[in-house]
Amino acid sequence: MTLAIEIKSVTKEYELGHIKVPALRGVDLEVAAGEFLSIVGPSGSGKTTLLNLIGCLDEPTAGTVTLFGKQDISHLQDRVATKLRRDSIGFIFQTFNLIPVLNVFENIEFPLIIQGVEKPERKKRVDEIIREVDLQAFVGHKPDELSGGQRQRIAVARALITNPKLVLADEPTANLDKETGLTILNMMKEMNQVHQTTFIFSTHDPKVMQLARRVVVLEDGKISSDTLSSNN
Ligand SMILES: Nc1ncnc2c1ncn2[C@@H]1O[C@H](COP(=O)(O)OP(=O)(O)OP(=O)(O)O)[C@@H](O)[C@H]1O
Ligand SMILES: [Mg+2]
Repeated sequence: MTLAIEIKSVTKEYELGHIKVPALRGVDLEVAAGEFLSIVGPSGSGKTTLLNLIGCLDEPTAGTVTLFGKQDISHLQDRVATKLRRDSIGFIFQTFNLIPVLNVFENIEFPLIIQGVEKPERKKRVDEIIREVDLQAFVGHKPDELSGGQRQRIAVARALITNPKLVLADEPTANLDKETGLTILNMMKEMNQVHQTTFIFSTHDPKVMQLARRVVVLEDGKISSDTLSSNN
């Protein structure tokens, strides 16, 4: 089994002036490559903190986070963290985080430009993923001319365009109605199955978490349960 993520004895404390706010209090977690895993738990339980540590957006106070079986990412230099994020991780956010002045095609193309991929190859890959997320009719539209569900489909395509090994999604369906949220999740799941990309997403929504094969529950900065679902 190849491990995508190995988290050992991780704690995270935020400092607010002189006050220390414990966000994670000793988390151990192993995620195999190709998993489709949901992190759930009450507000303030540490979901975003955990995703930020896995995504090299922040550093643990103690413990180690190892990605792809080799690289301890707990304390990377900024330059190295940026490169790792660019080459291996796709991010999907609750508020989509699209670039407003770019159209659908250009938003999805953007990570490939950053990676230095040549234009003909970019066009081929963007056209292909636009078909996968069914946005052919909106290629030239700007994000603010589209619905929330359509915007999140752009964000999913943008996260996947570089074929990352890992996709992290923090409440990707929170700003969508139930039905649209389920559509987005099913699309992520299909991509997980087709491309074997490892997906980790946080959610509050019981309907959405049911789609995960594995559900990890965080409570007060600790994992309180970790269950596999038989029907996925
Ligand atoms: N930048 C920060 N500075 C100080 N405390 C923080 C910071 N970010 C988070 N916290 C605290 O850390 C704890 C965990 O927060 P986190 O955002 O990880 O929770 P969450 O599970 O994602 O919650 P939600 O469901 O509301 O998004 C909370 O007590 C929160 O107040
Ligand atoms: Mg959060």
